[in-house]
Amino acid sequence: MSMKVTIDGITIDVEPGTTILNAARQIGGDIVPPAMCYYSKLKDSGGKCRTCLVKVSKGSEKDPRPMPKLVASCRTTVMDGMEVQNITSPEVIEARKGIVEMLLINHPLDCPICDQAGECDLQNLAFDHGAVKTRYEFDRRTFEKIDIGDKIQLHMTRCILCYRCVFVADQITDHRIHGILNRGDHSEISTYIHHAVDNDFSGNVIDVCPVGALTDKTFRFKNRVWFTNAVEAHRDCDKCCGKVTLWYKGEDVLRVTARKDQFGEVEEFICNTCRFDKKATADWVIEEPRKVSHKSVISSNHYEFKPLPVVRTNPVLIEANKEQFERDTRL
Ligand code: SF4
Ligand code: FES
Repeated sequence: MSMKVTIDGITIDVEPGTTILNAARQIGGDIVPPAMCYYSKLKDSGGKCRTCLVKVSKGSEKDPRPMPKLVASCRTTVMDGMEVQNITSPEVIEARKGIVEMLLINHPLDCPICDQAGECDLQNLAFDHGAVKTRYEFDRRTFEKIDIGDKIQLHMTRCILCYRCVFVADQITDHRIHGILNRGDHSEISTYIHHAVDNDFSGNVIDVCPVGALTDKTFRFKNRVWFTNAVEAHRDCDKCCGKVTLWYKGEDVLRVTARKDQFGEVEEFICNTCRFDKKATADWVIEEPRKVSHKSVISSNHYEFKPLPVVRTNPVLIEANKEQFERDTRL
């Protein structure tokens, strides 16, 4: 039996147990609430950041009373006949502005020197939903940078405590040695006595981190992401799916990441060998230029038609590059 839910006036039938957020994702487009901590590939994620708050204006067909408070859409399951407001509710828009302000209370505005700039969920969230000014006058929390292993750097000052990296370590690596220590405003991501995070899938914490708190040391300060060209590629890997995005500057692969879907989540987790040790074009079978959302600042590098050096000899990729250019420059 499916359940009918209406979100911002659009009705959809979903399976029982579907959350409001996932029902909205099935509809797609602007009505999908933003999510800073929920991650569909990580069990039990969500419920931490409150960016996905929505208004339930009708509880269900059986009990049409509205819910008294805004609810976290990533944690609230739909009821048959439920009506939800997201971008059509001024209350939600106002609350989201407050959430952005709160997330920024302890988050430095160091985008000009942060490697995550251009693909930071918090930066995008603040751009779409934030207020122009902050009312906060106190010093932000600051921490020393920590190397967790030779490939990953933790910049706790930027962490928004979404717990995604902890779930990655718990669920897809064989042993977790980092987590959230302490409570309340003393909470911090850390390893036990600065242990290195070192196992085949640890690099995925970089991809799931919505901000620049966990960054790839092999890419740090090498380039701004909008000056790079992203290309989908794959290789036969005995540890992971081997499907990645290569980020090129000229002919050099500056970094390798997992591929991300339209909601900014990785499609499949990749191993550290693919991520850190395969930085030559010869290691990969190149597929096509990555489709970059027209809204993303990364697309700013794609307004001119410039075939990538690696695709120059491949007519299929030249065609794909041209199509991307046409898409990006369409008004
Ligand atoms: S380090 Fe990143 S992924 Fe981990 S809790 Fe902080 S913001 Fe989330
Ligand atoms: S995405 Fe729902 S609370 Fe964070």
